[in-house]
Amino acid sequence: MRIVVKNSSEEAADFSAEFMVQSIRGQSDITLGLATGSSPVRTYEKLIERHKNNDVSFKSVTTFNLDEYLGLTGDHPQSYRFFMNEKLFNHIDIDFSNTHIPNGSSPTPVQACNDYESLIQQKGGIDLQLLGIGRNGHIGFNEPTSSLTSRTRVKTLTKDTVEANQHNFTEEEYQPHLAMTMGIGTIMEARQILLLATGEGKAQAIRDMVEGPLAAKCPASMLQMHMNATIVIDRDAAKLLEDVSFYEYIEQERQQLMSR
Ligand code: F6R
Repeated sequence: MRIVVKNSSEEAADFSAEFMVQSIRGQSDITLGLATGSSPVRTYEKLIERHKNNDVSFKSVTTFNLDEYLGLTGDHPQSYRFFMNEKLFNHIDIDFSNTHIPNGSSPTPVQACNDYESLIQQKGGIDLQLLGIGRNGHIGFNEPTSSLTSRTRVKTLTKDTVEANQHNFTEEEYQPHLAMTMGIGTIMEARQILLLATGEGKAQAIRDMVEGPLAAKCPASMLQMHMNATIVIDRDAAKLLEDVSFYEYIEQERQQLMSR
């Protein structure tokens, strides 16, 4: 794992936006895996800015989102389809037919998950997967004890996750407790991974993921097995790591090597 510790959440967003722009420039027909939640919002804003400055085009980019609430249609303000349109897709030159999100309103969700998985394969797999992490170590909606080789499927959300996302729903709004999510096996097949986490609330999950044992109790710890995973965090999220100075030292060495 490459661990990049930034001084602020703003710097972490700068890093991830730059990382994505470089990846798109390097491969204009790239397939991106995307995440929702609060973590990537600033990164998406920066991507929009970069696009408006003619710095990057999404014309040939394909996207697959990690997950969607089961039971919400794409026009529901709390659906992840709605979120992605609002926070990114409506503001860039992406072809909407190349943006994919599990169909939360499918009458046959199990089949829809299998079809989603097949579509990812058909399109040649994911080149770069952007991830956030839950306070309980989940990635996508793969909650603790999820199979570490799971594929896209319907999952029950933990009470923790439902509570963490409650602020997005008004009291009258139905908050789903089920979701469709790429599996950990699906995520692990992405050729490159970029996980972004900021704030003290993520510190324990980051520690478990980076320095803890490989365990289904912390689904993100499976990323220890990935050949090309970059973890970008701010100082607050890095607070419980034992060896931040070592990670920083490696980064410095890396910068020196790159500048040679
Ligand atoms: C979202 C997703 C989740 C979030 C995680 C962190 O598509 O898959 O795993 O990345 O719950 O959420 P935030 O960023 O809101 O803290």
